Amino acid sequence: MKRDKIEYKLKKELDRQRFEHTLGVEQTAREMARVFGENEEKAALAGLLHDCAKCMPLSQMVKAAKHADVDPVMKESKALMHAVAGRCVAVSVYGVQDEEVLGAIRWHTTGHANMTRLEKIIYLADVIEPNRKPYPGLEALRAQCMQDLDGAMHTALRMSLEHVKEQGRTLHPDTLAALAMYEPELAQDEAANSRTPEE
Ligand SMILES: [Fe+2]
Ligand SMILES: [Fe+2]
Repeated sequence: MKRDKIEYKLKKELDRQRFEHTLGVEQTAREMARVFGENEEKAALAGLLHDCAKCMPLSQMVKAAKHADVDPVMKESKALMHAVAGRCVAVSVYGVQDEEVLGAIRWHTTGHANMTRLEKIIYLADVIEPNRKPYPGLEALRAQCMQDLDGAMHTALRMSLEHVKEQGRTLHPDTLAALAMYEPELAQDEAANSRTPEE
């Protein structure tokens, strides 16, 4: 599907704020791809489509993702489901077949271990695009995103850990696995914490 047609369709599917965000991620992902020698068209396409399922009701997300590997916890969460459903909708509605682009859509919310360069770009573009409401550390992260991709991933994942800690929640296991790439001791702590005394 041509870009203009995708944009036209997304404009109908998304609310105004989400649509603006989407264009911001598309543009930021393209800039980052240029900086880091990644394919700009793939980055732009993944940025444009990353939230294509975001404005669906949860039940529709679950339906869209019926062929995907989805656990019961995910089915309760719009935040987690929109990325999985987004990958499926990108295939079925927007005709995307490129696995790299689809992976970037799938993992944009949680991250995971061993992320590709394109996946990192979309993960980061999502949190720094120009329409993002300011949050502490945003400007520094924006600068880092144009210089040091892994450094920026480490910063962003750390911020996400601090954020969930403040809220008394725990980090999603996939996000923890992504962070543990930069802080191997975290993975060991986690293993130690989950061990029962009898073991
Ligand atoms: Fe998203
Ligand atoms: Fe997003």
